[in-house]
Amino acid sequence: MLSQTGDICIVSPGSAPYTQCRMLWLKAFHIVFVVTWFAGLFYLPRLFVYHAAAADAPGLERFAVMERRLFSIMTLGGALAVLFGLAMIVAAPLYLQQQWLRVKLILVGALVGYHIWCRVLMRALGSGRNTHSQRWFRIFNEVPALLLIAIVILAVVKP
Ligand code: HEM
Repeated sequence: MLSQTGDICIVSPGSAPYTQCRMLWLKAFHIVFVVTWFAGLFYLPRLFVYHAAAADAPGLERFAVMERRLFSIMTLGGALAVLFGLAMIVAAPLYLQQQWLRVKLILVGALVGYHIWCRVLMRALGSGRNTHSQRWFRIFNEVPALLLIAIVILAVVKP
């Protein structure tokens, strides 16, 4: 039987699969790009901590280049994670009636806001206009972990 919420890869006993397991493919790539995105969300603010402490010109330039490259990769990962997430909703719109998904989308919005904030901070550091301390960046660095825990619990446990 076809389900509207994901488990559409069911095989009748003794017969070939009658769907292309589309949802499972979408979910697999969704998770791949979520991991890519988070690699950047964890490491970029860590680079900010070191960048804020650097004083020599070559060091400052090296951090600026590393941050720009990492930011490009994590932006691609984030965009594709969101795209595959939305594709699952388009494939099975009943998801939108589930409370956990709505709360998850609010937290994903916060994550996108954090991502944009990283860009603002990266530009400030790159142009010598940073006003934040190393300690501030260390605390800032903890935010994605909290959002990750909350979002994964919502997506997996569906409380
Ligand atoms: C706009 C952004 C997003 C949308 C629309 C979205 C939507 C979805 C949907 C519809 C599913 C399938 C749920 C199921 O059938 O069980 C799913 C699975 C999942 N999502 Fe997202 N998601 C988004 C962002 C994220 C983010 C940022 C994370 C991680 C922090 C995440 C983590 C997961 C995980 C771990 C699953 C697998 C759950 C499971 O199969 O048990 N998603 N997502």
